[in-house]
Amino acid sequence: MRVAVTGGAGYIGSHTVVCLLEAGHEVLILDSFANAAPDVPDRIAGIAGQSAQVMRVDITDRPALTDALTGFRPEAVLHFAGLKAVGEAVEMPLEYYRVNVAGSLELMRAMEAAGCHRLVFSSSATVYGDPDVVPIPETHALRPTNPYGHSKRMVEQVIEDWGVANPAVAAVNLRYFNPVGAHGSAQIGEAPQGVPNNLMPYVAQVAVGERPHLSVFGDDYDTPDGTGVRDYIHVVDLAQAHLAALDLTGREGGVQAINVGTGRGYSVLEMVRAFETASGRPVPYEIIARRPGDIATSLADPSLSAARLGWKAERDLEAMCRDAWVWQSYLAGKNSG
Ligand code: UFG
Repeated sequence: MRVAVTGGAGYIGSHTVVCLLEAGHEVLILDSFANAAPDVPDRIAGIAGQSAQVMRVDITDRPALTDALTGFRPEAVLHFAGLKAVGEAVEMPLEYYRVNVAGSLELMRAMEAAGCHRLVFSSSATVYGDPDVVPIPETHALRPTNPYGHSKRMVEQVIEDWGVANPAVAAVNLRYFNPVGAHGSAQIGEAPQGVPNNLMPYVAQVAVGERPHLSVFGDDYDTPDGTGVRDYIHVVDLAQAHLAALDLTGREGGVQAINVGTGRGYSVLEMVRAFETASGRPVPYEIIARRPGDIATSLADPSLSAARLGWKAERDLEAMCRDAWVWQSYLAGKNSG
């Protein structure tokens, strides 16, 4: 198939492009490279043994998107492009709505112009907000607590309404839980700019000696050891879920939302210990106050993904930590050399 991938040079997008190329698809990466290194497409080609086409396009630039899609004539689009930091979204809500919501609208209009109606969208478990029950089923109420989460929920709504208006639309909103790790080749991974917001890249930077210690945000949650519990998923498993979702859009019309997680949770301290084991390095930490907006536990109910996608996560915590460590070690060597 011909598949266009917005944000295809980013963290999750790049891993998905590798899987698409390995499965024999023809891929066009559309990326602004605002938050991706320019050599990512070459690295992808190095891993997959074949190249994707690449166009530098901003997701808010409808004429450029329309040109790209009418030229490439994709049968489906995977839409990763967007801004993704919760704290930044609270400070810059207008920018988040412009890029994430308006950008997604421009993409759908460009898809209409190109006659393409198959879409897989990067949504987030953050659409659930503070859950009433865990594991969280897709039927759970949606009540995000910050502009980033609202932007994801709004785009889900737009896609649903597009599907109501146009029977040709076949779309899947994938609600990611906590993606971590990197490709086993250590050629691609997450490269946060500045201080990492997320736990795993922060832990990796402590283990490699770039930061003195981890701050654990609270140990008085209602969880077994008091620290936050999350459903971490290996980024390559997450990438594979996109191929399964792509297949689903070929079999079924309409719009559906599907969780992508493992259903298994780990606490912050369990993550620290697993990373120490994988890296053979100490990860010193100190407990500080809770981070505003954090919840105690977030876990996917993965039953719908198993039933609808025929997919389930295969890589365990050890693989997540090992691959994150190998990638972090590579990054540290690159930065020092
Ligand atoms: N944590 C720390 N110290 C840190 C960073 C995180 O103790 O330096 C803790 C958090 O308090 C939380 C856990 O580690 O208990 C995971 O935190 P992350 O920031 O890695 O992940 P979140 O679950 O808070 O957020 C992630 C994504 C968001 C998404 C959200 C809900 O980063 O984009 O999941 O799906 F919105």
